Amino acid sequence: MAPRRGAWLLALGLAAYQGFAFLAPTVPSRAPTGLARGFGRCPQQRAASATQRQLVPGAGEALATILVSEMGDKTFFLTMVLAMRKSRRLDVSRNDRPALPLAWVHFPKCGSSFLNMLIHQPDFCDVAPGFSVDEDNFGTCFSFNFNDVCEDLCDTQRLRCQPVVHECIGSQYTELKGHMVGMFRQPEQRILSAYHDEQHNWLVEGDCEEKAAPKPALPIFAELFGGTVTYQLTGEGYAGDHKLPLLPDLPVRTRAMAEEAVRRVSGFAFVGITDEWDLSVCLFHATFGTKCRALDFLDVRPGTSEAEVYDTAPLRGYRDELDGMVYQEALRIFQANLLKYNVSMDSCQRCFNEAQGV
Ligand SMILES: *[C@@H]1O[C@H](CO)[C@@H](O)[C@H](O)[C@H]1NC(C)=O
Repeated sequence: MAPRRGAWLLALGLAAYQGFAFLAPTVPSRAPTGLARGFGRCPQQRAASATQRQLVPGAGEALATILVSEMGDKTFFLTMVLAMRKSRRLDVSRNDRPALPLAWVHFPKCGSSFLNMLIHQPDFCDVAPGFSVDEDNFGTCFSFNFNDVCEDLCDTQRLRCQPVVHECIGSQYTELKGHMVGMFRQPEQRILSAYHDEQHNWLVEGDCEEKAAPKPALPIFAELFGGTVTYQLTGEGYAGDHKLPLLPDLPVRTRAMAEEAVRRVSGFAFVGITDEWDLSVCLFHATFGTKCRALDFLDVRPGTSEAEVYDTAPLRGYRDELDGMVYQEALRIFQANLLKYNVSMDSCQRCFNEAQGV
């Protein structure tokens, strides 16, 4: 072992021993397809406090082992990858339903309120019936703050707690396949929604993490924000890609990644469409055999919601082709599942009526 590497390992090992979470992002991960090579890391890999609990125990053990034995690079990296995987492994030991635990894949601007449906599934989380993860209960950065207490509130054999908000699926795909649930959104609408979200702004001052740069012109923003669903499904780490303009190096998003992302949509146990919220909620309950609740529909009266649709003209012809491929596949699966579970506005009246009473 070269002295330099030895010193590096020692430093890592000591850090791990002391329980420092920043180790995690230094670990290279492996994607099942090999596609991930050269993707770089998901940007903004902070969120250390949330990551710490998930990653450090396994990583620390692995590093301790490495420090007392001389191993080649290959074994070292493999051990690290296994340690990471072990510490994030889904708990499937006493599951009666194969999709459990459900693993929410949270694409930015695709409906954080989806979480409020998840936490109220039977036996999922120890929360009062009307409880909601929102600004009143968890502050402006409610998604981030909820993650910190998720494991205390929820049964991780039913609901997987995310290590970080907007995490990337990347090399975790094999493990999460069949457990993933999430909402997809028409890409240009998602971009416009992100651009106009002044409350949880993705680029300007006052967001959950740091003061950021001034908002760029929309077409520039679109170029930067486009393709980030593709990236989140295939890249590694934390998809803080909404802050892409702040990064010195933009992660590459390629057509090959989009093709892999398209394949990964079939790894979802549930695919919803943000702009079809009511049908999606109804489909979710039909899929898992659970009851509709009024809160699943936010404040909107069941069956009558009309999603806000942004005028795309200011995009000046920009189209998010990569995420467009993924969205088309999500839409295809969504529609196939509507047929499979006989879900329509008509058949959902029962769900909507149930929701009136709960
Ligand atoms: C599908 O739903 C409709 C109500 O919209 C109902 O009349 C019909 O019987 C259902 N079909 C099946 C196969 O369950």
